[in-house]
Amino acid sequence: MNVLGIETSCDETAAAVVTGERRVLADVVLSQLEEHRPYGGIVPEIAARAHLEHLDRIVAQAMEEAGIGFDGLDAVAATGGPGLIGGVLVGVTTAKAIAAVGGTPFIAVNHLEGHALSARLTGDVAFPYVLLLVSGGHCQLLAVEGVGHYRRLGTTIDDAVGEAFDKTAKMLGLGYPGGPPVESAAKAGDAARFDLPRPLKGRPGCNFSFSGLKTAVRRAVNALPPGRLAESDVADLSASFQAAVGDVLAERSANALDQCRPLYPGADTLVVAGGVAANRYLRRRLEGVAGKCGYRLVAPPPQLCTDNGAMIAWAGVERLRLGLTDSLDFAPRPRWPLDPDASPAIGAGVKA
Ligand code: KG4
Ligand code: ZN
Repeated sequence: MNVLGIETSCDETAAAVVTGERRVLADVVLSQLEEHRPYGGIVPEIAARAHLEHLDRIVAQAMEEAGIGFDGLDAVAATGGPGLIGGVLVGVTTAKAIAAVGGTPFIAVNHLEGHALSARLTGDVAFPYVLLLVSGGHCQLLAVEGVGHYRRLGTTIDDAVGEAFDKTAKMLGLGYPGGPPVESAAKAGDAARFDLPRPLKGRPGCNFSFSGLKTAVRRAVNALPPGRLAESDVADLSASFQAAVGDVLAERSANALDQCRPLYPGADTLVVAGGVAANRYLRRRLEGVAGKCGYRLVAPPPQLCTDNGAMIAWAGVERLRLGLTDSLDFAPRPRWPLDPDASPAIGAGVKA
């Protein structure tokens, strides 16, 4: 079984071919970093145009690397949402065209489901499992019961954790996206120098909040002598921020594992996925908490944590196996929660 996966919901134009035997035949990711750099963030209109300009070439490259023709595809999957609607439209339209020409099934994948199932592409992870989904647009804890079956345990009531990394990086004069430079600056830093808050820590439940932490970082920056921040200030603030995030993610995840133990007695795995899951310090912290709670931690390799086409192709494989294909009438969804029964007021997600 060969499935082509297309990802265009944010600022990566990506295409990949994955097999039913979990082989990644091709995985091409083009980041639009340069296009957005002058604006200090992602500009949706620029992202949509860049996807339109590059996607055909990226798909052709993926097909060539995979060494199969379009007639060798069993399905074409594309991110159908949630995300920036212009980009999603480009990916969905391209996938539908390829599917229509070849008479191949089309599959619209929820981007969050792509992240949620990515651990099953590279590891032996059986349903059900507990998932911490941490990306630029989301911070959620979910019970993954099966393909298409998710129960939300908690979500952020304000900012996503990746967003907190990005804003912290900006305040510290580091680049975008902020996660990687904050992680590397933190290595040389003293995490005890700045006493930053751990929002919601100690409260029952699995929700998150990061806006107070972001404000505290701003206050700490403003309290330093004016002018360019010293390298040690950047390192210490990065380390202090990352430690605060680690404390919160670990404690909230422990609550989720405790909550899931009686509900899913056979579950033994905590999966962390999404762009922030690329962070090695946070992975270590989560490994610690999972172990303490009697679970193991599974984290996909870093390149599979940040947005990519392989996770969309893999979600396509999982859906195709169950006969879950979509009609060519599918309309892209800017919002598409994984758990439709969870309160739409918070965490429904505009971006993944
Ligand atoms: O899942 P993703 O690639 O894109 C979407 O949000 O859709 O996640 C991107 C987020 C960004 O906020 C980025 O700063 C964060 O993931 N990120 C990291 C790291 N690498 C990427 N955060 C912390 N540490 C990292 N190493
Ligand atoms: Zn994502």
